[in-house]
Amino acid sequence: MMKPASELIIIPFRQEDLASVFELEQLSFTDPYPWWLLAELARKNPATFLVAKLKDRVVGYAIIDGSEDYYHLVSIAVHPEFRRTGVATGLLQALEEHLTHSGLVRLEVRESNHAAIQFYVKHGFEKKDIVPGYYADGENAITMERQERNREVSRLSCL
Ligand SMILES: CC(C)(COP(=O)(O)OP(=O)(O)OC[C@H]1O[C@@H](n2cnc3c(N)ncnc32)[C@H](O)[C@@H]1OP(=O)(O)O)[C@@H](O)C(=O)NCCC(=O)NCCS
Repeated sequence: MMKPASELIIIPFRQEDLASVFELEQLSFTDPYPWWLLAELARKNPATFLVAKLKDRVVGYAIIDGSEDYYHLVSIAVHPEFRRTGVATGLLQALEEHLTHSGLVRLEVRESNHAAIQFYVKHGFEKKDIVPGYYADGENAITMERQERNREVSRLSCL
């Protein structure tokens, strides 16, 4: 599989991407988000709903939903044909650039989703709790967290 990194662009979601993101949801999850919820997340989070594109094709997306207490990574997915080529890593790094203040990034992941758990561990997330029966089919969720430091604060503390 070709490494797409050089041609990959990561940009804010636009309304015209909704059908592609919806399709990626269907391909990636047993309990995909409905269309209306994706549209609502896009409306609420214009800076932190990002898509990864290769030659105009949406191959991945990631969403952080703003919250007063923490950043909630509500979804990240990559088209099966383009996995293990750094697309999700690119999305996560691009999201970091859009976070405006220091704080925790939190997420839930299915206990059986070893690929995603490995991905998050590689990127510095730590397992925190198990939430029994979190998913509709009864599977447990693992919650994971990473401390995000505001880039301006980090730079100042280095002076
Ligand atoms: C999890 C997911 C987003 C990772 O996307 P990706 O673009 O393939 O990830 P990357 O290529 O950036 O991977 C970075 C690292 O994560 C880890 N990783 C990713 N997929 C992995 C897998 N299937 N098995 C083991 N480790 C994996 C590896 O350490 C990898 O580095 P390496 O390829 O150099 O070994 C992707 O598998 C996916 O879309 N899964 C379905 C949707 C999903 O489960 N999302 C998470 C919901 S909580």
